[in-house]
Amino acid sequence: MIHTQPGGWILETDRTAYALGLNAAGLLTHRYWGERLPYPEDYPEAVNPGAWGPFNNPSHLTPEEFPGYSDMKYIEPCLKVTFADGVRDVDLRFGGADSDSETLRVYLHDSVYPLHLTLEYRVHSAADLIERRATLTNAGDAPVRIERMLSALWHFPGAHWRLTYLTGRWFDETHVRREALQEGVKVLESRRLTSGHHFQPYFALDRGQTTEDHGDVWYGLLEWSGSWKLTAEVSNFHQTRVGIGLNDWDFAWRLNPGDAFTTPAAIAGFTRRGFGAASRNLHNFVRDSVLPHPPDVHKVFYNSWEATLFDVEAESQYALAVTAARMGCELFMLDDGWYHERFNQDSGLGDWWPDARKFPDGLEVFISRVNALGMDFGLWIEPENVNPDSDLYRAHPDWVIHFPTRERRLGRSALTLNLGRVDVQEYLIESLDRLLAAYNIACVKWDMNRNISEAGWPDAPGEPQELWVRYVHGLYRVWDTLRERHPQVIFHSCSGGGGRSDLGMLRRADLIWISDNSAASSRLAIQDGYLHMFPACTMQTWVTDQQQELPLEFRFHAAMTGILGVGADIRRWSENDIQTATACIARYKTIRPLVQSGDCYRLHPADDRGFSALQFVSKDRGEAVLFAFRTHTAQHEPSLRLRLCGLDSESRYTVEGFPGVRSGAAWMNLDLEFGKYGGLHNFESTIRRIQRVETPAGPDVVDHILITEQGE
Ligand code: GLA
Repeated sequence: MIHTQPGGWILETDRTAYALGLNAAGLLTHRYWGERLPYPEDYPEAVNPGAWGPFNNPSHLTPEEFPGYSDMKYIEPCLKVTFADGVRDVDLRFGGADSDSETLRVYLHDSVYPLHLTLEYRVHSAADLIERRATLTNAGDAPVRIERMLSALWHFPGAHWRLTYLTGRWFDETHVRREALQEGVKVLESRRLTSGHHFQPYFALDRGQTTEDHGDVWYGLLEWSGSWKLTAEVSNFHQTRVGIGLNDWDFAWRLNPGDAFTTPAAIAGFTRRGFGAASRNLHNFVRDSVLPHPPDVHKVFYNSWEATLFDVEAESQYALAVTAARMGCELFMLDDGWYHERFNQDSGLGDWWPDARKFPDGLEVFISRVNALGMDFGLWIEPENVNPDSDLYRAHPDWVIHFPTRERRLGRSALTLNLGRVDVQEYLIESLDRLLAAYNIACVKWDMNRNISEAGWPDAPGEPQELWVRYVHGLYRVWDTLRERHPQVIFHSCSGGGGRSDLGMLRRADLIWISDNSAASSRLAIQDGYLHMFPACTMQTWVTDQQQELPLEFRFHAAMTGILGVGADIRRWSENDIQTATACIARYKTIRPLVQSGDCYRLHPADDRGFSALQFVSKDRGEAVLFAFRTHTAQHEPSLRLRLCGLDSESRYTVEGFPGVRSGAAWMNLDLEFGKYGGLHNFESTIRRIQRVETPAGPDVVDHILITEQGE
């Protein structure tokens, strides 16, 4: 709901509100963001700061919604442009606004030049989220050079804030970090052309006391799969702001007369109920409003990569498929190594047709054999990159990103096609469309295995630095066209594991392969971080031969908290292992609706003292499943104690393995003591079903031996 006041607007979601308005100087100013208040008059007026001595003008001190670089403003701006006559600042004035029940558009324009800015705010009521983007239109007759244009600036009162963010690297992505912000600017970014393994375009701010279950938290994401930047700035005047959007590193965009440029969307929200609720809001939003296919039950898949690497040929793949089917897998994904001349990482990339020596009877026959085993068939591709040793590169050496005078540096033996070019987009659409039309492919895994170097575009239509954005637009165009033409195909997104785990991909991909690291003990923390942003129904998890020293059941349990897959060389597994796998897969099938569609509660953070626990609760709160893990802890470490979450207080539930029928309130207020009951040793794990039952509670409502109140 959007309320309009004289010179101001209040954007209301179910539980929150965001207010903005014009101040006396005519600047579009942030007024409020937090819990929804009862009356429009409750929200503060736009502020009118005075100057601070000769060095700080009011404009530096005003919390502007979308500050342009101008005046005596030295904060991180949202917009920086250069006009054709060399003027390098932008002086934005209010020009009007319109709104419907969900969207507010505020129009600003430069005070001298015919340059128009539209700020769009969209309300997602049920998810308590606000979506923002900005569009710049050149109504003049000379080009304007955009040098920075963020999607949004989010304001926070005062200086005492803690930033939560995600960080890591290849094989070790999405670790949760929390740190107090101090005066200055903390920058998180990617300059790699993909959103990257190293940081995610995600933030959460709290006042330092917020926990999983309690406390205020403001959080957000950027819907973008390329280079991005996040600045968390505390000014010397105790104002805190988070800016998020396209990275301005090496960026420029020529905005020709009549053209418009729109930023990616930034999405953010507020909750009083802790980091867990923040994640669940994002999960609901992604499931309900972002994913291309409505939430459905994803199949258990087998992936052949770690079993055979590039050594692919029909019979060995079939042997894997036979065992995978026997274990209960429902989809067989043929990974890298299937296509023309792909015998190692040095050749073939770009030539997307089956290698005749590897599939002498043709891929079609192989797919029918997989289908006859009762499994769907999936295929790996890496369309954005090309080996110099490929027919594609020999035909089109000019199609790759490069500077003409520089060596073309290889990453994993490949160069990157310039997806900013329309001819490259057309080629990919055509060749991949042909592949999807020719074979019975139910699922595609789209990989991207290098980062950019020599970011050149010789003959670029505008500024060569437009590459950073045009590439991603081109990528989206190829995905969107393929999805439109093949709507039934499930798409997995991967970039050497989690190098492109972002909201932009989730508009197009059903699942993300979040890390090449499937060693269960490190994976738990990677998954925990990923779940801060996105739901388990998008999180692909495989059991591989990594960390074979751990019990197979533990490795399965860790993978059962997402979309379960197997990626091991199961030809070498013992009959015992196959029986364990078969039992785990069968069990997963009984709980996957909860994991994939339920509300996720992180009961125990994975990075903390050797334990990890997650709970998924059905939307009607009728059932739930609890996963608990013990990695390595010293023997004297107190054992795991957990409280359940998300149950209906009045209903009665049973918890598998714990005696008694108790109210949801009881299970949520008393500790489950795993030490006394079904205790976990190092590298042991357990899965417990929680069921609502209609039978009244018996006399054993509180059993002090098995469960005790906190602190006893
Ligand atoms: C990347 C992916 C792997 C696998 C290989 C194939 O590393 O993350 O899962 O697909 O590429 O080359």
